[in-house]
Amino acid sequence: MISKASAPGKIILFGEHFVVYGVKAILASVDKRITVTSKKTDEKKIIIDSLFGNQNYSSDADIESIKPEIQPIAYLAKKMINKFDWTGGIQIKIDSQLPPGVGLGSSSSSCVASAASISGLFEERPREDILELAIDAERTIFPQTSGADCTVCTFGGIIEYQKDKDYEKINAKPDFELVILNSDTIHSTDKMVSQVREFKNTNPEMFLKLCEKETNLIEKAKQALRNNDSANIGRIMKENQSYLEEIGVSNQNLQNIVEFANSKTFGSKLTGAGGGGCIISITNKNDLKTITESFDRAKYKYWTAKLDFDGLIVE
Ligand code: MEV
Repeated sequence: MISKASAPGKIILFGEHFVVYGVKAILASVDKRITVTSKKTDEKKIIIDSLFGNQNYSSDADIESIKPEIQPIAYLAKKMINKFDWTGGIQIKIDSQLPPGVGLGSSSSSCVASAASISGLFEERPREDILELAIDAERTIFPQTSGADCTVCTFGGIIEYQKDKDYEKINAKPDFELVILNSDTIHSTDKMVSQVREFKNTNPEMFLKLCEKETNLIEKAKQALRNNDSANIGRIMKENQSYLEEIGVSNQNLQNIVEFANSKTFGSKLTGAGGGGCIISITNKNDLKTITESFDRAKYKYWTAKLDFDGLIVE
């Protein structure tokens, strides 16, 4: 028996980092997916075939002995093997349309799709349970996660997320065109989150002020999304970028790209942990061609993306 599931990547439209401290964030899933196919095997092995190579472990292997990039997947396989007293092993294949380490949710998307695919070998579970499993798995490599990324990869669309609260769907179908620019620098989300924690501890008042500003911005952003007001959404993105610069997760390279993109689009900001990764920009359909031509001339790596409204798909 084969169990197959896919989950989309994500962007954070507003509120990354502040969301770790209880501020609301707005996220959306995008039309690039990770597909996971699993099957039971007779041999007591966990085999994971992904862009990190073909890895082969004993089902009893210690999680810490497993390559970090695939630890969450092995964690899920071991969890299911133990829960269902499965005497054989599991073979897992991960096909990704998402580049890793650039803030587009490749880790969360693979955790969600793997949680659904691997647990699907044994039982059917509601999406809420899959999400819980996926967050547990992601915590093996990223203990500080707010859970925001896995939530949007599970449910899809545009969501408002607050840590330890229920997420809410934002009923908006904005017609902006999304351009994602890759700064070509890989980042570690956990490292960036720790860096912000340090910033918060040394600048508590400033951080609190920024949390208040971000909270106000999120309310304005929700309204602008519902009103399909791209010019305003762009302005709010620029404002959010300035808060991210203040907490130190931007850098000169990202700022140069943001500045260039701002001169052509409604607005831009980094998305995700920062320190590298991607920048998102929004524009309208009519200007898209001219804008992407100017990105081509400037030799930026970019792609256009659409929002995804499906979330997790179990086949
Ligand atoms: C990473 O995509 C988003 C962060 O806010 C961390 C998190 O919410 O877990 C930086």
